[in-house]
Formats: sequence, C-alpha cells, structure tokens
Amino acid sequence: MAIPPVNAQAPITPPLSEADLAEICAIIYKRSGMVFGETKRYYIERRVTDLIAQRQASSVQGYISLLRSDLRESEFLINSFTVNETYFYREQHQLACLSNSILPDIVRFKAPGERIRIWSMPCSSGEEPYSIAIWLLENWPLVDAYNIEIVGSDIDTAILRQAVDGSYGERSLSRLSNDILARYFEPEQDRQRRLIADLRESVHFAKGNIVDQNSLSPLGRFDVIFCRNLLIYFDDAARETAARNLHALLYDGGYICLGHTESMSRISETFEPVRFPDAIVYREAGGA
Ligand SMILES: C[S@@+](CC[C@H](N)C(=O)[O-])C[C@H]1O[C@@H](n2cnc3c(N)ncnc32)[C@H](O)[C@@H]1O
Repeated sequence: MAIPPVNAQAPITPPLSEADLAEICAIIYKRSGMVFGETKRYYIERRVTDLIAQRQASSVQGYISLLRSDLRESEFLINSFTVNETYFYREQHQLACLSNSILPDIVRFKAPGERIRIWSMPCSSGEEPYSIAIWLLENWPLVDAYNIEIVGSDIDTAILRQAVDGSYGERSLSRLSNDILARYFEPEQDRQRRLIADLRESVHFAKGNIVDQNSLSPLGRFDVIFCRNLLIYFDDAARETAARNLHALLYDGGYICLGHTESMSRISETFEPVRFPDAIVYREAGGA
C-alpha cells in the first residue's frame, strides 16, 4: 500500500474515547507486548492524532479498521510508540562482564575458530551491538581466535534502518573516548559521526518481535543475549512470553544480560542468576 504523505491541513482529532483508547492499546499490546493505558493518554493521543492525519482517516474508528486490516499500518503504529533511548557503552559493567567472565566461560566448550553468537535484542538504533563489537576489539584478547557473530534485532523497522546506517550524534557518543572515536568513526559531518565501514559490516541487523517466536526462529541460536531495557515496558504475561522465546534461542548454558532494573526471578525458572565480579547476569538453567 502506498502511504500518503503527511497532510499538514488535516483536522486535529478530538480526544480518544475510553473505548477507542482501549482498542488501540489492545492492538499495541497484542502485536508488541508493550503496555499502554489511560495513564499514558496524552502520549497516545498525540501519536494517534499524527497517524490519523497522515493517513487522512475519516475517524478514529476508520483508523482502527485500517489497523486491523493492514499489517503495515500496525507496523507504523508500533514504530511510533517505541521508546528508542540508547547510547554507546550503556551499563559498561556488563560489557566488562562479557569480556572478563561470560566469554571465558563460553570458550571452555569451544575450539579456536568456532562461532560465538551474540544477540542484541532489542538493539534500537544500533549503539548496543556496535558497543559490543568495539568493546571486544578493545578488551578481549581472544577476539581474533573465535568467529564472533553479532546480531541486532528490534521490532521497530524505522530504527533498524538507522542502525544499519550507523551515524550518531553527540548524545549517543558521549561515553566514548576521543581515541575510540578517532579509530572507529569517520570524521564529524553535520554534527554526526558515522561508524567506519568495517564496524558497520561486522553487525548483522534483522527485524524481530520478542513476543512472536515465528519472527525469531530464523535468527538461529545464540551464546549470549543482551535483552536490556525492554521488559520494563511489558506486563508479567508478556515478560513470560519473552522469557520463553529467549530461552528457545539460547544455547544450553548460554547467558542473558538484562537492564539493571530488570530481573528474570519472578518470570522464569529456566534462568538462574549468576553473580560475576562486574555484574549479575542470567544463565540458561537447563531443561525447558
Ligand atoms: C529503550 S530501547 C533499549 C535499547 C538497548 N537495548 C539499550 O538498552 O540501550 C527499547 C527498544 O525495544 C524495542 N521493542 C519494543 N517492543 C519490542 C518487541 N516486542 N520486540 C523487539 N523489540 C521491541 C523498541 O523498538 C526500542 O528500540
């Protein structure tokens, strides 16, 4: 379907009725696991009003019918509701844990040259998977001895395009030293710095919805998963679905790193917490 351009003249949609708001939140929840409700009314109304204007829908109900009949439209809806906040070297202690503890444990069972697969899910605009690549090049002495594959996934197709492009502004880059900026990024242009091609090509990006197993299984299985700052947007039921799906994609004995406010303890018994010197992470506990 061709998506019509923004219509700046479109009338402002009146506030959403309780039923319309509930219906839109139910669609977002079903398709993504993200929980929205009355407490986020202002946020929801602003985004839905913009989308209705762009599509020149005649009413909120007209727009909801479009959402139900056209999967691409629900992709636009989800894209406009995601919170993509991220930056390079976020929660750096987990990167230290990766090179100091997690990978040394994983390679006990691998021969040199074997693959190690690391998944950044969700990766947003790419800062997390690229940080993993840079961190390992800088801090893991065995980086060249293994075949490391880094994959970044997100439900948001617009943000994934930015990740592939690999250009970043000051806010994203603020934690990187001048030395790292000079070696891994092109010179600044229009207040942006683009990762050098070698780095961009070292990470593979693919769309994935953490609550939809069918979208994930083509990605294969992983030794380490970074699933940071996503489960905070979910309720317990969606967290349990996510935990099951992550478990299915993790090799036996593989590791998961969550955001610092997130925990697997209440949601899944298939992961056990492991306290390493740099961070507490989760390990696949065996069995389903
Ligand atoms: C706050 S960012 C976290 C990025 C990165 N992991 C970090 O911690 O810096 C949250 C991301 O989750 C993505 N997201 C939301 N629901 C998702 C889902 N069901 N499956 C995959 N990604 C999802 C959003 O598009 C957004 O980019």
